[in-house]
Amino acid sequence: MARRKKIYEGKAKILYEGPEPGTYVQYFKDDATAFNAEKKAVIEGKGVLNNRLSEFFMTGLNTIGVPTHFLKRLNMREQLIRQVEIIPLEVIVRNFAAGSIAKRLGLEEGAALPRPIVEFSYKEDSLGDPLVTEEYIIAFGWASQQDLDDMIALALRVNDFLAGVMYGVGIKLIDFKIEIGRVYEGDFMRLVVADEISPDSCRLWDVKTGQKLDKDVFRRDLGNLTDAYTEVAKRLGVMPSNVTHATKPTLIN
Ligand code: C5P
Repeated sequence: MARRKKIYEGKAKILYEGPEPGTYVQYFKDDATAFNAEKKAVIEGKGVLNNRLSEFFMTGLNTIGVPTHFLKRLNMREQLIRQVEIIPLEVIVRNFAAGSIAKRLGLEEGAALPRPIVEFSYKEDSLGDPLVTEEYIIAFGWASQQDLDDMIALALRVNDFLAGVMYGVGIKLIDFKIEIGRVYEGDFMRLVVADEISPDSCRLWDVKTGQKLDKDVFRRDLGNLTDAYTEVAKRLGVMPSNVTHATKPTLIN
């Protein structure tokens, strides 16, 4: 069989040419990176979990009318997605202080914010994805004012959906990051949620205990990352219990 054409390889995923024009196949790797790839590891089963979890969140968003790039899951590690023109911004929504905002403003981790805060970083690894203002975004032409308004509205809808879904399974959505892409349909352009939504790109804390169930487990060496992601997947009912990281062959009768 001919090898597929690789379009792009990132830190956690690979994009291949899709079976139809206008599609890509998105492959989820087991690689974990943090602090702009200064810390790296291969975490068995992470790609399988993120593929499933991203499918779950994107399908839910599509169902409630929030457009995403997701078309269908193909197998354990791959999903079919729409080809989009990625806007070079990371769109972050925060409900509680943590991570960089806690550090920057001297806030206590977990402190409630006055309202959900949307912020943007310029997607450029060599610069460490710097925080940028709306003024920068317009001035450098990364997005128009209309796109910006639409991106904020989209990000807040994703926030309401994700926060509600997670609360339903006893998890508090502290913050998350999405990427947004443009899709052209005839004369029209639509913004859609792209990339992935998974515990790699969210902060998720157990409501009762405050236990971290996201990539901070890896960033801060707090335990086994696959176990944390498996817990999220199990609570959401998206993961059959035996398909993540079976280390031994299992006898099936
Ligand atoms: O590090 P910071 O507090 O700015 O991250 C905010 C949220 O965005 C976190 O959920 C983090 O996992 C996510 N994020 C991401 N990719 C980045 C930067 C942040 O998924 N490059």
